[in-house]
Amino acid sequence: MRRWLYGALVLAGIGGIGILWAEDAPSAGDQWTAPARAARKANPVPADEKSIAAGKVLYLQECRACHGDAGKGDGPSAATLEKKPGDLSSPKLWEQSDGALFWKITNGRKPMPTFEQKFTDEQRWAVVNYVRTLAPRPAGK
Ligand code: HEC
Repeated sequence: MRRWLYGALVLAGIGGIGILWAEDAPSAGDQWTAPARAARKANPVPADEKSIAAGKVLYLQECRACHGDAGKGDGPSAATLEKKPGDLSSPKLWEQSDGALFWKITNGRKPMPTFEQKFTDEQRWAVVNYVRTLAPRPAGK
């Protein structure tokens, strides 16, 4: 094989490994942050009684086992997870937009499953609306 071709192939290989590694590397401090574009997405489903009630039913079915009745991350399965579920009842949750929560519920992150297939968009927004009722709303939000 020609020497320059060999060199180019080796360089391409190293570049490929670099890209794979960068995509796999956890983000700073292992914080789970939704991409800005997803976070800007507005919630199209009004947080009315009907949607909150629908979200609650889904939450109790699919989220409670890990996140617990009040969202504190103390559901019956929580102890067996390699990572603690977040505290959905913390006022800090209001630092994240509805779009960011929607994105996290859509995509999940191990051990949290993805709900992209399991729930429709409207169901995921309804769950966001319900989750919002678990944390006290700070003034001005
Ligand atoms: C198998 C357990 C499990 C199930 C089921 C589960 N989660 Fe999670 N969830 C987790 C874990 C663990 C994390 C923390 C993930 C991380 O930080 O990497 C998390 C994180 C989250 C977060 C981000 C919290 C934050 O502080 O940013 C939200 C929101 C959330 N879950 C909502 C839900 C909702 C809503 C459902 C049901 C539709 C659900 N989860 C189902 C385990 C679970």
